[in-house]
Amino acid sequence: MARHHHAVIWSRLGGTPRKMGDLVLADADTFFTYTPDWLDSGLPGFCLLGDGAIWGSDTVAYPVSERIPVFPRLLALIPGNNPRNLQRRHYLDLLRARLGREPPPGIDTEWQLLTLGGHGGVGHVDVFADDLAAEDWYHAIEAEHAAAAPPGEARSELWRMLKREVLDENVSFDPQVVEEILGPTPSVGGMIPKLLVAIDPAAEQPRFYPPGTPGHTDVVLKVEPPEYPGLLDLEALCLDLHAEAGFATPAHHRFDADGLHFLAVERFDRDDNGPLPVESLFSVIATGDHDFRETGDILLDELGEVFTRLRDVATLAPDTEQQFYRRLLMALLTGNGDLHLDNVALLGGLDNCRLTPVYDPSPMRAWPRHNLVSAIPFDPEGYPDHGAFFADLGKHFGLDKQQTGQCIDDALAATADYPERVMAHERVPLTQRQQLVEIAKAERKLLEKHRP
Ligand SMILES: Nc1ncnc2c1ncn2[C@@H]1O[C@H](COP(=O)(O)OP(=O)(O)O)[C@@H](O)[C@H]1O
Ligand SMILES: [Mg+2]
Repeated sequence: MARHHHAVIWSRLGGTPRKMGDLVLADADTFFTYTPDWLDSGLPGFCLLGDGAIWGSDTVAYPVSERIPVFPRLLALIPGNNPRNLQRRHYLDLLRARLGREPPPGIDTEWQLLTLGGHGGVGHVDVFADDLAAEDWYHAIEAEHAAAAPPGEARSELWRMLKREVLDENVSFDPQVVEEILGPTPSVGGMIPKLLVAIDPAAEQPRFYPPGTPGHTDVVLKVEPPEYPGLLDLEALCLDLHAEAGFATPAHHRFDADGLHFLAVERFDRDDNGPLPVESLFSVIATGDHDFRETGDILLDELGEVFTRLRDVATLAPDTEQQFYRRLLMALLTGNGDLHLDNVALLGGLDNCRLTPVYDPSPMRAWPRHNLVSAIPFDPEGYPDHGAFFADLGKHFGLDKQQTGQCIDDALAATADYPERVMAHERVPLTQRQQLVEIAKAERKLLEKHRP
């Protein structure tokens, strides 16, 4: 029998770090056992469907697979396996130095990455190799916040790191210095290179501080890769559109420095007391349905039912279904074909659960290889076109014809000047802007035609 992997989960939920429980990965299953203290505290568990209110003192179990080799909630804490993932590169360098050879591909290495980078990320779940590592890390963070702001000298190392890793420029940098400026860089999901840092949004020149630095604002800092020129301009535009249309949307700041383009999005997974639980819809569905392995395993019209079932165990904000349908319409009308189940998430624990503010609304259909109507599949069989499908979809989210019509009217109104606003972004190549505008206009026409 293969060797089991062990780790621990801690959390700063409620303000002070404490241990949540023990994590084991065996051959075919993974297990999590809460500490009695954590269960007594009544605080939210490590994921919605693995909450202590459901499992009590029983061990939570999940059958792992090659695609989901850990609890689904922990996937976001393992740095993504794409070439521009800053955290994966950083931690693989570290492991390489420790091992004196290339870390072998497979679960052993992924588990190491989870324990190395799986704390301080988005949400409230912190994974460590053991309790001592947890205590050391929280102490280090405290000491760092008490220390003076990092010297300006060090910023140039960070710049060099980004230039090498994101722009492929042939410059060297000292990873140790970068680690000292930003603290150990936690894993964060998604495809675009990004860092979790704190900034002073009022400063003219961006300076980055470790997350949680007092007097600063925590952000997800996205760095534009050269393959997608202007992407962050379009993402900022779509955040604005959503905000203007009344969606909860995080404040964001677009800035350029030294050939690099940044979008800093203020974190919604923190309040004055510390971290808040965040879990992607992907994780919620996969935890509840063991046959579910990827976004393509569910259809758009089945998602209403997911919320309904979640209501059996959780208190979900009453307008969740309607808000979600509205987000789908905005995605359709802005050419965001990339609204997959990791781009939708729930905020809060079982007793107070709602959609997070809108994030990652990038209109990826501007780029031909991402030109997909919807990342979540749907079956338009029986409909004259997919516009008719989307106009009919409201009923799967508990909306009658009149309510659906209102959602469609609102989305159409919110995106009426979208083509001109896209065209105004000159950093986006003209071909991409034209393609996006064409798509947006075509989708608009279809929805107008089928509005109930
Ligand atoms: N403002 C935010 N506050 C907290 N977490 C966020 C925020 N924006 C994004 N995230 C988290 O970070 C992950 C990656 O961000 P995202 O914008 O989706 O990047 P990408 O474009 O690379 O997919 C998201 O899946 C989400 O969990
Ligand atoms: Mg994303």
